[in-house]
Amino acid sequence: MIHGGKPLRGSVSPSGSKNASVAILPAALLSEEKVAIENLPDIRDVHVLENILRALGARIEYSPGQMTVDSRSVESCVACEELTSQMRASYYLLGAMLGRFGEARIAMPGGCKIGARPIDQHLKGMEALGADIELTDTEVIARAHGGRLKGAEVYFDIVSVGATANVLMAAARAVGRTTIVNAAKEPHIVDLANFLNSMGANIKGAGTDVIRVNGVDSLHASTYAVIPDQIETGTFMIAGAATGGDVTVTNVIPTHMESMTAKLEEMGVFIEEGEDSIRVVGTGRHRGTSVRTMPYPGFPTDLMQPLSALMALATTRSRIEENIFENRFMHFDALRSMGAQIRVIQPGRVAEIDGVPKLHGAEVIASDLRAGAALVIAGLAAEGETLIGGLTHIDRGYDHLEDKMRALGADIQRIRR
Ligand code: UD1
Repeated sequence: MIHGGKPLRGSVSPSGSKNASVAILPAALLSEEKVAIENLPDIRDVHVLENILRALGARIEYSPGQMTVDSRSVESCVACEELTSQMRASYYLLGAMLGRFGEARIAMPGGCKIGARPIDQHLKGMEALGADIELTDTEVIARAHGGRLKGAEVYFDIVSVGATANVLMAAARAVGRTTIVNAAKEPHIVDLANFLNSMGANIKGAGTDVIRVNGVDSLHASTYAVIPDQIETGTFMIAGAATGGDVTVTNVIPTHMESMTAKLEEMGVFIEEGEDSIRVVGTGRHRGTSVRTMPYPGFPTDLMQPLSALMALATTRSRIEENIFENRFMHFDALRSMGAQIRVIQPGRVAEIDGVPKLHGAEVIASDLRAGAALVIAGLAAEGETLIGGLTHIDRGYDHLEDKMRALGADIQRIRR
């Protein structure tokens, strides 16, 4: 429940990156030694992975923010369907288990229903490395010829974060050299590569479109801290601007935020960048802008929905072109019920938003994770009371969002009805 209209003020730090954490935790299976991962966000996806790793036989020690994974005793390469179907990133178990055991069996991944989200590029990558793939209605079963993957050239037809990370894991312990061409360049790809290298992998070029991996026989123990969450950082930046507030997001990597910072500046928001902080000052009603979602370093699809809440309050028309997923406009009806003027020009792909002076509170449902963030921002900026349902989506990827917003002065609380 949010009572909106209060400018957010103060400092806030993002938790560790969700998308890096959900890759790094499965990647810990690639080492037979104990791996300590720090700066993990306290989110549902991390806990689902924790349970998956336990169910596989790993010994886990967890304290908030930190997990040690000792997977010496893991023998099974069959991931429990009930758990894997709860999250999209369970596809990473494919690369991690194929790399470690030469065999993997996982249920089809779940996660946000923001598009068809096929995994053909993941499977193409594993096949290039010498895996035979069998697909049933519910499962992916993969086996490496001769029990171990072999390095190869993997060319992706599209830029895919998930496929790049998955092949990176599989290739880390393959025999020989793998070259990934048309790789994703997201900060969490670089973080995964740094984590694998910290365990003794030999990966070069992460963060560019060609990544080279020299396979190694084994990976050793490591202690590794996950990078700050780029999308959570952007969410606080937009919330600061939308409420006419003055918010400093600390412990961030400003270069990861360049597309976000540029868009807010185009809208007339005041931004001050420090070495590891970004201050955002709302300056009344802002101008509209146009945004085209693209792979990194382009504008992230995950921040398009939150930004649309700010666009709804702009003085001029904004335009959104969504190029990554087909189903990311599902929050528009909820924003409309709060007074937003949104016109879909091309379903799932192009929309225009005519800013209005004020949004008003309403009872709405979060349809997916980032839709939930958009509704929280809209509720914080709106007049009156907003009730947001569907919090399980928000809890999948935001670490105590309401507590962090409350510390910035928001009137927000979690209620049971
Ligand atoms: C990851 C992020 C998600 C983000 C998205 C795009 C994680 C856990 N999730 O999702 O938050 O929104 O990147 O930045 O890191 N595709 C195929 N075939 C494939 C794989 C992907 O056609 O085998 C398509 C997808 O349907 C989508 C596009 O490629 O249209 C990009 O998807 P991808 O980068 O793989 O996204 P995810 O890894 O699912």
